[in-house]
This record gives sequence, structure tokens and C-alpha cells, in this order.
Amino acid sequence: MVPFKTLNDFNVKNKTVIVRVDFNSEVDLLTKQITSSVRISAHAQFTLKELMEKGAKVVVLSHQGRKGDLDYTDLSQHANILEKMLKRPVKYVDDLFSEKAKNAVKQLQTGEILVLENVRSWSEETKSGTPAQQSNTDLVKNLAPLADLFVNDAFSVAHRDNVSMIGFTAVLPSAAGRIMERELTQLNKVLENPQHPCIYIMGGAKADDSLEISKYILNNNVADSLLLGGIISQLFLVAKGLNLGEGTMEFLEKKELLNLIPGIQNLLINYSDKIILPVDVALNVDGKRVEIPVNHLPSEYPIFDIGTKTVEKYVNIISKAQSIVVSGPLGVYENSNFCYGTKTVFETIANSKTSSLAGGGNTIAALDQYGLTNRISYISTAGGALVEALMGKKLPGVVALETAIATKNSAQN
Ligand code: 3PG
Repeated sequence: MVPFKTLNDFNVKNKTVIVRVDFNSEVDLLTKQITSSVRISAHAQFTLKELMEKGAKVVVLSHQGRKGDLDYTDLSQHANILEKMLKRPVKYVDDLFSEKAKNAVKQLQTGEILVLENVRSWSEETKSGTPAQQSNTDLVKNLAPLADLFVNDAFSVAHRDNVSMIGFTAVLPSAAGRIMERELTQLNKVLENPQHPCIYIMGGAKADDSLEISKYILNNNVADSLLLGGIISQLFLVAKGLNLGEGTMEFLEKKELLNLIPGIQNLLINYSDKIILPVDVALNVDGKRVEIPVNHLPSEYPIFDIGTKTVEKYVNIISKAQSIVVSGPLGVYENSNFCYGTKTVFETIANSKTSSLAGGGNTIAALDQYGLTNRISYISTAGGALVEALMGKKLPGVVALETAIATKNSAQN
């Protein structure tokens, strides 16, 4: 039982439904053309299609980029892409809550979809507040009276207390959309009710995030083993007293990552049996891959991958896992000389029958590069929201759904 309402709980026929999606997509910074429509496609295929087929009048809210950033655009392109995906006309108005937008909402017919202007075109959108405060804003005060139901489908924005994420839940019956529901169900599987042994594999460059996730999953007995690669594994080796070499140490210091060492040492004291570190590494020696055991460090050459013996060890642990979470590549996955660790570990996950969850931009890109995308049980559409959830943080967008006002009879099943 999920602790919030879903689309199963409402009869949406002829009802006006405001749906907060996350259409925020990668764009070419010069041409402003969308280069990846994965998120649009996820919302289209599931929540929006279902609402349209059930005869709702659908009003779509989303952001794209942040005002002032190069990827900030209006949503006309997103509406066009959505129209092609749904093979049905999709209306778009370049207005958020003035007369033009309100008239367009009022004119919606059963099964029609309307995309409104980028919610971040309105500067109040990103101001912090409680659901009650966010409901007392122009966006909610103008649009909520026209709607019967609010659906939040934007799990990947759930770490933001933005007006469009939490304001409507204080005044309208509210439900999680199918993407939100799916993401939370999958997360629950690896955080609240993991099948054991549960293995977390972390790498990449965002060592501070990885450390916070490590603390949460170890302190709460979520993970049985934590396999590390990337920058975070280098910091763990340093915390164990290894000197990695002048260049690598300078790099870690310049990135201000050495201040993470005391926190890492605490974890090593308490969970040395669960934390699995590289036993060998691949150095980038003038572009060539040269492997050495970690006890042969320091080296003047930078570490670009985990070594073959480490890969063997990780593959062996993964083969016994009952649930797997992977976040971050284990080395410089884009470079064919240093992709061995990431590719082999990711292939092992893809080949196993175990339920797996993957997330993060570089992880998704690496899976795509190796042709493994369709062989991972679940790939999250989220970046920051997933990271915060894995750290055990409560996400305002989810809390707002859980505490949404009691349902008006008009829309409930
Ligand atoms: C994301 O891409 O992570 C979400 O769309 C949230 O975007 P934001 O970090 O600009 O709030």
C-alpha cells in the first residue's frame, strides 16, 4: 500500500486535471533544440496517455532549465514533441495563469491536453515555502479553482518545494502520477524493503553525495556490501592511510574533497566488513592503461579505472546479490582504455536476474553507450531527487502528496 493516492483512486472522466510533469530535458545550448526526450516520453506513455484515454481534460505544468541559464526555454517545443508521441493534437499557450491561460483551460474538451508556459517564467515558482504558503500564490489561486484534481508525476523534481510541486496539494484532491508512483515503488524496494544481499555500487565524481548515501545505507542496514569506484574510492583509500601520488592528492585537495576524510574514517571503523574497495587500479600512463595493486601506490600517474582483480572481486559479489543499486561509473567510462571496470560491472548487473536500480546522468549515459539500457530492471528518470532519496531525505514533493488535503467527493472513485 502506497501512502498517497494514485490514479486508481479517481474517476477523471470530464474532470480538469492539472498534471505537474518534469519535461526538463537536455538541450543543445546553441540551437536550443531538445537533444533527449526521455522524460517527455515517460510522462507521455504512462500518465498523460492514461488521463487522455480516460477522458480527462489535462493541463500540463513543467519547468525547463532555470531563468538566466542557457538551457532555459519555453515549452512550445516540448508540446510539439508530446503531440508526436501521443499522436493527438496538443495545445500550447505561452501564458501560465493570466486570462489567456485560464481561458484555454476553460475551453478544454474531454481527452484534450494543454501545455502551459514554463513555470519558471514566473519568478515566485522557486521561492521556498510550506504547502500552505505555496497554495497562497498567484499560480495556485488562479489555476486551482478551474481544476478538480492535481496529479504530481514529477518525481525528479520532488526534492524541490517549488510552488507547482507542493502548492496545489493543499487545496485540491491530489494523486501521484504513474511515473511518480513507479519511482517511489522502486525506491521503496531498495531502501525500505531490500532483498538481501543488497549491493550498492557507487562511483563517479560527486564524492560528497556518494558519502552521504554511504552513511545512510550503512547506518540503516540497507546495504550488505558497498562496492566503490571513481573518486569516492580514491578518498576511501586515502582515509585508510594510502598515499595515491602527488598529482591525485593535489587533485583531491583542489576539489576540496579531503575534508570528507574524517567522515569516511568513521564509516571504515564501523563497517569495514561491508565496504569493498579496489585492490588494484588502472593508471593513465600517457594514454595507456597500466594496472598496479593499490599497495604499490603512490604513482605520478592519475587513476582512471579500477583494475582487473577488483573487477573480478566485484563481479563475484554482484553474482550473489538479490538487489542492486548502481549510481556512478567506476572509472573514466568514455575512454575505451579505461572503460573496462564500468563496462564489465554494468554488464554483470545487466546479465543477472537480480532486480537492479540505476540512476544518475553518467550512469545512464554509460549504460546507453554499452547498449545495456533495456537490460537493467529500473532506470530512474531523476538526478538530484534520486540522490536525496538515497540519502534518506524526505522529499517535499512526496511529503506534500502524503499530506494532501482530504479528497473532494466529486473526483474520487
Ligand atoms: C532535474 O533535472 O534534476 C530536475 O528537472 C530538477 O531540475 P532543477 O535542479 O533545475 O530543479
